[in-house]
Amino acid sequence: MKSTASAPGKIILFGEHFVVYGVSAVLCAINKRITVSATKIQGNIISIKSNIGDLITTPNKPIIEINSPLKPFYFIANKMIEKYNQNTGIEILIQSEIPLGVGLGSSSASCVAGAAAISRLFAKTSKKEILDLAIEAEKTIFQNTSGADCTVCTFGGIMEYDRKNGFSKINLEPNFHLVIANSKIEHSTEIIVSNVKQFKEKNENTFSNLCKEESNLINNVLILLKNNDLTGLGKNMIKNQEYLEAIGVSNEKLRSMIELAQKLSFGAKITGAGGGGCIIALTNESNVEKVIESFKEKNYECFSAKIDFRGLDTF
Ligand code: PMV
Repeated sequence: MKSTASAPGKIILFGEHFVVYGVSAVLCAINKRITVSATKIQGNIISIKSNIGDLITTPNKPIIEINSPLKPFYFIANKMIEKYNQNTGIEILIQSEIPLGVGLGSSSASCVAGAAAISRLFAKTSKKEILDLAIEAEKTIFQNTSGADCTVCTFGGIMEYDRKNGFSKINLEPNFHLVIANSKIEHSTEIIVSNVKQFKEKNENTFSNLCKEESNLINNVLILLKNNDLTGLGKNMIKNQEYLEAIGVSNEKLRSMIELAQKLSFGAKITGAGGGGCIIALTNESNVEKVIESFKEKNYECFSAKIDFRGLDTF
């Protein structure tokens, strides 16, 4: 028996870091996906194969003993075998179009597609059940995840998220293109989030003002999205980038990429935790190719993406 699922990556359009302190963030799924297939096999074995390596081991090990980036898949497989009390092994294959560790939701998309493919070997699970399992699995690698990334990877589209009220889907289908450029500097979200915490503790007033500014910015952005006002949205990206600079999550390489992108696009900013990872530039048909060319001329890895409205797909 085989079960396959795919889930999109994501970007944060506005509000990263401030979301940890209660401000809303706006996220969207992108049309780059991870596909996971799971098969029941004979024997006491969990076998996980991916383009970043393999993990082949036995079930029933405490999760703390699994030292691999593929840990969330082990967690899900083990949990399902235990829950359904079945004497089976599981083979898992992962294929990804999403670059790793650069803030494009590769781990959340893995958890969502993994939770769907593996759980559906045992029972017909709902999207909500899959999302809960995916968040639990993501916590094995990032304890403090807000759950926002897994949510957008499950449902697709654009979403507003805050820690208190959870997510609400924004039912709009704006026509912009994003250019995503990769700094190729891998970052640890956990370390950068903890650096921001230290910044906050040392600069309570500045941080609290920045949270207020970010909150106003998000309110404006929600109106601009409704009006499909790319010029206005671009200006707010530039402003949001200033707030991210102020809390210390940018660096020279990211700044020079953003400067390059801002010349030809409506606006550009870091997406995700910063410190490395990717930047996004807002474009439409008139300037998407020019922005891509200008990055390619400088040998940056970049691609254009549109919003994914499918979310989790199971086959
Ligand atoms: O993991 P990333 O790079 O997509 O970004 C995480 C976003 C943060 O706001 C920095 C942390 C969080 O949990 O919301």
